[in-house]
Amino acid sequence: MKKLIALAFSLVASLAQASGGPTQLQSSGADLSDQASLQRGATLFMNYCMGCHSLKYLRYSRMAADLGLTEEQVMSSLNFTGIKFGEQMTVAMKPADGDKWIGKAAPDLSLTARVRGSSDWIYTYLKSFYRDPARPLGWNNVLFPGASMPNVLWELQGVQSAVFNAPEGGHAGGAPVFSHFEQAQPGRLKPEEFNQVARDISNFLQYAAEPAGLKRQQIGVWVLLFLSVLTILTWLLKHEYWRDVH
Ligand code: HEC
Repeated sequence: MKKLIALAFSLVASLAQASGGPTQLQSSGADLSDQASLQRGATLFMNYCMGCHSLKYLRYSRMAADLGLTEEQVMSSLNFTGIKFGEQMTVAMKPADGDKWIGKAAPDLSLTARVRGSSDWIYTYLKSFYRDPARPLGWNNVLFPGASMPNVLWELQGVQSAVFNAPEGGHAGGAPVFSHFEQAQPGRLKPEEFNQVARDISNFLQYAAEPAGLKRQQIGVWVLLFLSVLTILTWLLKHEYWRDVH
């Protein structure tokens, strides 16, 4: 019995480690009701990410309607691909080109916020790049070690270097433990401003992963209002009926 309990405990511990990873996820603070943030996130995404990543389950027209943008705004300042307004947000870069230039094709990001559990993962990922001369493109990521994506936001964020501690318990051959980042070169933005950039992009990708979520939130408020009114009416009706009985 004791053995069983010990086994259960070690299983839970290893599961927790596997899901948590070496870095704690930071809360993105993404808020689907913040339309200005979603609009900024869309602009940032088109400028910094769309060169490699598609959002193939989302159409420009749907995004415009959901984020309160006009066709003119989307086509003149957000869509650099030449793809039509009613079509899906695919990219000019073919997967094979990605393989050639970066060593790996950039995945479609339509569902990433859902696959990775939440926008917190994306937020933390965007903030976890550091200089690593050992990597082919000179960048590594603490949350996603060995990621083949370069830090495309480095001009905004600046360059970070990562400080690692010796493996726990002093084991030789164990993996070094991430301790903290140090700013090696300042970026154009202050740290809080960069956090906002990462938050806006994460918020936009959270929306893209489930555009219906936006509508559901709006409809949800009306459903709750309707239910409260219905409850009051039912209660009044009950009183009306029982008045005759008593
Ligand atoms: C130069 C091309 C390029 C650009 C630009 C780029 N990425 Fe990437 N990205 C990649 C590649 C390649 C991978 C795959 C990394 C791997 O699996 O090793 C990736 C992976 C990712 C992942 C992880 C997906 C997953 O679940 O595994 C996320 C999230 C991501 N990128 C977000 C972004 C965002 C947000 C931007 C814009 C700020 C961006 N990327 C810009 C090439 C790019």
